[in-house]
Amino acid sequence: MAVSRDTLLQAAREFGTPLFVYDADLMLRRYQELHDVIAWPRLTIHYAMKANYNVALLGILNAAGAALDTVSPGEVILARRIGFPVERILYTANSMTDAEVREVQRTGVLMNIGSLSRLEKFGREFPGTDVCIRFNPDVVDGETAKTTTGGPATKFGILMQDADRVADLVSRHGLRVVGLHEHTGSGLTRESSVYRSMQNLMSLATPARFPDLRFLDFGGGFKVPYRPEETRVDYAAMGAEIARLFREFCGAYGRELEMRFEPGRYIVAECGCLVIEVNTLKDNQGRLMAGCNSGFPQLIRPVMYGAYHHIVNLTNPDGPEAVYDVCGNICETGDRFAELRPLPEIREGDLLAIENAGAYCYSMGGVYNLRPMPAEVVIRAGELHLARRGLSNHELVEQILAESV
Ligand code: LLP
Repeated sequence: MAVSRDTLLQAAREFGTPLFVYDADLMLRRYQELHDVIAWPRLTIHYAMKANYNVALLGILNAAGAALDTVSPGEVILARRIGFPVERILYTANSMTDAEVREVQRTGVLMNIGSLSRLEKFGREFPGTDVCIRFNPDVVDGETAKTTTGGPATKFGILMQDADRVADLVSRHGLRVVGLHEHTGSGLTRESSVYRSMQNLMSLATPARFPDLRFLDFGGGFKVPYRPEETRVDYAAMGAEIARLFREFCGAYGRELEMRFEPGRYIVAECGCLVIEVNTLKDNQGRLMAGCNSGFPQLIRPVMYGAYHHIVNLTNPDGPEAVYDVCGNICETGDRFAELRPLPEIREGDLLAIENAGAYCYSMGGVYNLRPMPAEVVIRAGELHLARRGLSNHELVEQILAESV
């Protein structure tokens, strides 16, 4: 567990539950680790802020010099308000509207374009400007079908076979392609997918077709273990191979380029957990159900992807084991954090920690059933800080009424 049991219990006592708790030091270690294992002098890590946009965490990453992958005008605005300089932000939305392109282009943030029709419109409106092009790497991998991004069955990027059409559009509008980008998927299951996608993108990056390149961006997708028995990917070996492939490419291209990756999950997943309290136990003819004070709108990954999140009984760690459905408080049968999960005996009032809740949990949250999102606590050098308070029920309702016309 990223955060010790005692610290989680202290956080729950001080701030109540449900509560997201993040260990900022672990997040920074993960960020730094990537620089250590990918031995390329000009490496930039663009943290994918969709994974977790907690303002305190973003501030810490900004101070550490991290760059950002952004996917909406809202993310760009927040990043700028926190102080990320425009040069350290890349904009990679899909299904962009004209208004959104204009809004982001005005900020000076570099646009990453992943469709021929948008490239054409962009060239007409902003001739002579810098741009990054997103290709579909044609490698199919990802933790689930919903998080697989490469291959023709997904909406992302321009197909590799259209590289010459891209070059043609670019020269017609005098655009300068300063970067090429690909993202294969989230939670990549094979190291070889990373290498194959890199090679596919590098095969398009010839000096004849794209002479002005400053960087190649190979997206995110680095996996972290979710189950206790899962082993960690050997990132040191992977980093060495990545650097070797890129060195070879830069030799052929004729210049040493910047290398970029865009991890979200790798940087924040493990540093967070959601602490919840069990308030209702049922024994339905032998099927044990533990009802908690949180639900799928606050941590949707098990329901949405069938994802496994390890659960720890914080207040009865040595109880005799039994098998539970860990259920939420939402009026839906599917509202379960875990199904038939062996856990130390759960009693009403016990606190549970749902692990690996730093990535794609709070950020995918909502207020279905009109339950406000939990507060978020950030731990730095052993100190607990309330980073974001939750709205009260009344504040949530006031917000809804204020938006209603
Ligand atoms: N770059 C691009 C262009 C992306 O689309 C994504 C993720 C990333 C980087 C970061 O990927 P990561 O390193 O975090 O795997 N909600 C899903 C994950 C969706 C990822 C979407 N794009 C989940 O909870 O598993």
